[in-house]
Amino acid sequence: MENNYHVPVLLEACMEGLNIKPDGVYVDVTFGGGGHSREILKRLNKDGVLIAFDQDPDAQRNKIDDPRFLFVDQNFAFLKNNLRLLGYKQVDGILADLGVSSHQFNEPERGFSTRFESSLDMRMDKQGDLTAADVINKYPEDELHKIFGIYGEVKNAKSLAKAIVTARMNEPVLTLADFKKAIAAHIPKGKENKYMAQVFQALRIEVNGEIKVLESFLEQTADVLKPGGRLVVISYHSLEDRPVKNFLAKGKFKGEVEKDFYGNQQKPFEVITRKAIVAEEEELARNSRARSAKLRIGEKL
Ligand SMILES: C[S@@+](CC[C@H](N)C(=O)[O-])C[C@H]1O[C@@H](n2cnc3c(N)ncnc32)[C@H](O)[C@@H]1O
Repeated sequence: MENNYHVPVLLEACMEGLNIKPDGVYVDVTFGGGGHSREILKRLNKDGVLIAFDQDPDAQRNKIDDPRFLFVDQNFAFLKNNLRLLGYKQVDGILADLGVSSHQFNEPERGFSTRFESSLDMRMDKQGDLTAADVINKYPEDELHKIFGIYGEVKNAKSLAKAIVTARMNEPVLTLADFKKAIAAHIPKGKENKYMAQVFQALRIEVNGEIKVLESFLEQTADVLKPGGRLVVISYHSLEDRPVKNFLAKGKFKGEVEKDFYGNQQKPFEVITRKAIVAEEEELARNSRARSAKLRIGEKL
């Protein structure tokens, strides 16, 4: 594996959270550079199995040569069907380390970073149908307004959407330079980096359907985990953390936990982490990506 592909975050806490049984079946749905996967394999004996998912073909260069390791080149929105195809109806633990890898972020042509002049792409799955340029050039103004407001929590989302629609009437907005020129008047002075990060976050979430995919994945984990099996999720912003927290606590994304006729709570998980686990100073000092990480753990009831 390339050393600089990705440095795993909250590695020890994830391993503790998974509570690994040496002969168990585990799933790492966000393989990336394989940092977490390698640690899981170390804790399995010859009967253990690790199944890893990643929708980005680049991650395949990190595949682990080990008879206990299986790789699935699919979106984790198709978790349940792929496990079935491989002959596993239920598993002992699932790990998700959400978002993009450092590799994806650092490759200019992927278009995830505002640091490089690049095309507006942002697809994690390079074969995906929708790019950031499609969103910027084709979405109606009210959709853009909603995306920047909800996914980016951008304060001037309405005027930003209007500026984009006005600019694209003249010529398509295809590169980061075009995009910055189109929205220049709306970027708050002195807060350029934070603003662009929020705008890019919104586009990335839309391009990859991240919230829908996360909700579908969480629902499937409740079906595929054995009783006592662990779900361990690291998220990097509140739009991801909220559904994880709600689903673990209540078995749903909105509203209160369902109760049966006798008043017993109907939910698939017991929460192991009342408060999300965050990185310690030592980790923050060596890995800035750990800064916004929140780890939550649930045990299947
Ligand atoms: C934060 S990185 C994971 C890093 C990994 N834990 C490590 O230690 O190297 C997230 C990875 O998950 C992949 N990914 C994100 N969302 C996905 C999805 N819905 N389906 C499959 N893979 C996904 C990305 O392509 C990326 O490689």
